[in-house]
Amino acid sequence: MSEKKLTLDTISSLAKRRGFIFQSSEIYGGLASCWDFGPIGVELKNNVKNLWWKHVVRMRDDVVGMDSSILMHPDVWVASGHVGAFHDMLVDCLGCKTRVREDHLVNGKCPRCGGSEFTEPQKFQLMFKTQAGSTETGKMDVWLRPETCQGIFVDFKAVQTVSRQKVPFGIAQIGKSFRNEVTTKSFIFRSREFEQMEMEFFVHPDKADEWYEHWREARWNFYIDAMGIKKENLKLEPHKPENLAHYAKAAVDIEYNFPMGWQEIEGIHNRTDFDLKQHQEHSGKSLIYHNQETGEKYIPWVIETSAGVERSVLTAMCDAYDEDEIGGEKRTILKFNSNIAPVKVAVFPLQKKGGLEEIAMPLYRTLMEKWFCQYDEAGNIGRRYRRQDEIGTPYCVTIDFDTIEDKAVTIRERDTTEQVRIGLDKVKDWLVERLK
Ligand code: GAP
Repeated sequence: MSEKKLTLDTISSLAKRRGFIFQSSEIYGGLASCWDFGPIGVELKNNVKNLWWKHVVRMRDDVVGMDSSILMHPDVWVASGHVGAFHDMLVDCLGCKTRVREDHLVNGKCPRCGGSEFTEPQKFQLMFKTQAGSTETGKMDVWLRPETCQGIFVDFKAVQTVSRQKVPFGIAQIGKSFRNEVTTKSFIFRSREFEQMEMEFFVHPDKADEWYEHWREARWNFYIDAMGIKKENLKLEPHKPENLAHYAKAAVDIEYNFPMGWQEIEGIHNRTDFDLKQHQEHSGKSLIYHNQETGEKYIPWVIETSAGVERSVLTAMCDAYDEDEIGGEKRTILKFNSNIAPVKVAVFPLQKKGGLEEIAMPLYRTLMEKWFCQYDEAGNIGRRYRRQDEIGTPYCVTIDFDTIEDKAVTIRERDTTEQVRIGLDKVKDWLVERLK
């Protein structure tokens, strides 16, 4: 990597140029803190989500999945504490009129103009409100969910019954959440619409500390082993007791060393029995778990793991970013772990003409059954390699005029740029071996 420090601008312009991420509604001037994922970005995002699902749900016997709706009964958000407590305190600077979070004032001064006179702090609800129902009298105020986990708590009994799981067990889901964030910068790091990957693990109260440790370790290992994030760019940041959320007994953040500094990408919380108790009280429905073997009845405690999809994508992009020089030519490269690389293989006929397409196209069609691949026959080969390096494609396969005779192709590896020549009929197995 060059000595130049990576900036978020570098990542966001690469993201735009190569079809990862665009500003939402750009042709209308954009909508702040809302982002669209392009053809390459959506593949990366899906890979991150699928990898999480594989590790948290599919490879475990004790976690099941679900997908709850974004709109929920409004009382859910009273019970969860969001209606009463999910707000920021805002002030307006009397000098430059900027609206600032009170806790973001720098030594009591406006971060924009340095002024020190403000309006009285006012509560600003962070949940988006909308209305359900078509007639004036039948309309009901509802909220867009600010976190996915409440759908899990509310359905805890139903899911436990149908899945025949016994405590300890977990319920996981991935879905959209919405927060009317006041501070909106840092590219996709803090958005108003984003996705969460949340897992609520229900345990006996006496086992909560043990499971908290288990999940802290499992989630830490996930970033390093499954996503391939560099260990030195990650740290665990436990919350001080005085900073714990009202529902939590213990909490730790996994932080990444972003260009703008260390920031949270995932939280692991011991939420006690707070949520289930609240929903039991507000709904009037019992959420008590009955252990059929011991006869014990209790409200389970919850260990939560809560990660943001966009923050994981940004982590993956920042961590993979590199620049080097090959044969005197600078290149930008995303060294994604092949688990999450958006395009796994690119297929290039050396030239459009000369019958190479008849070999390249069937190969591409075969490989696309297994992986997301790209076919590129335009421009010189060097430029085609550069394009794939910039989106992090691990392997490029080139079909040249010798292929017609020797039935072999050249495979070029992204990071080392090393090339091997192998038989056309061996390409798929060779890639299967390396793209496990
Ligand atoms: N259920 C617990 C919960 O929602 P949180 O710390 O508020 O906890 C969990 O959010 C994760 O969701 C964060 O670690 C972050 O990755 C992601 N997240 C939260 N707010 C976000 C936002 N405005 N934009 C993008 N990601 C966000």
